Amino acid sequence: MSTRPAAHLVSSEYLAKYQKATELMKALPADDPRNFTQQANVHCAYCNGGYNQVDFPKIDYQVHFSWLFFPFHRMYLYFYEKILGSLIKDPNFALPFWNWDHPNGMYLPQIFNDVNSLLYDKYRNCQHLPPTLMDLDYSGNDPTTTTEEQIASNLTIMHKQMVSSAGSPKLFYGDPYVAGDEDTTKGAGTIENIPHNSVHRWTGTKKGICGITDDPPYGEDMGILYSASRDPIFYAHHANVDRMWTIWKNLEAKKKRSTGDALENKKLGYQYQDVEIPWLQSRP
Ligand code: C2O
Repeated sequence: MSTRPAAHLVSSEYLAKYQKATELMKALPADDPRNFTQQANVHCAYCNGGYNQVDFPKIDYQVHFSWLFFPFHRMYLYFYEKILGSLIKDPNFALPFWNWDHPNGMYLPQIFNDVNSLLYDKYRNCQHLPPTLMDLDYSGNDPTTTTEEQIASNLTIMHKQMVSSAGSPKLFYGDPYVAGDEDTTKGAGTIENIPHNSVHRWTGTKKGICGITDDPPYGEDMGILYSASRDPIFYAHHANVDRMWTIWKNLEAKKKRSTGDALENKKLGYQYQDVEIPWLQSRP
């Protein structure tokens, strides 16, 4: 069992490993499927019409906007993490998660903000670098609230997306998407919409805002699906999305009671006074 750490809390020893692994991944031959760019292209291929559905050659295969979102990204991260671990010969290496649901983690994590590190990506919104607080509900315009208000708003958004608006599997996971569905943008679940999509947009650049002439036009890298995983921060963002899945399942489990829960009264916190049982001896 390995433990994925919060990105803003990692040790320098961990960071050195993560950087080394990323460096080795980026240094692999361009045609090696484990190479960083190849991995980024895997994501692109599954969201920009790179594949068709089996038996439906005219219909795109899309891993966003439906219940495929969580499982696809879980396995995508899993293999990415395994590649990193194998490159540094540490099978227990675990990706960090961007802890944007906690006030201390509501910033672009510093480990991704060092220009000399391979975890850095230049295509990010220069107005959103640390110490700028995140807006989990970002829709293109920066808020003009105080820090306290923004943190409160972020926490309220989390509660809404994880609890009050996510009361059924369909609401949380998104709409069913099955072979033959032509609508490849069925309906995203609560977390996929916000803050998953909004954090993507918040992180990517916007043309013209930073006075850089080569700013790409579509919110690259993080702000648009085809290029999102070219930014190493993608994997930390998705590790937290994946963590939300785990948290949500635990919340759901607490709400439900199964027959098995009834088997042990002591587990429910009560027992009976130990009195005599006379009829045990009263055989007919
Ligand atoms: Cu495949 Cu965050 O997107």
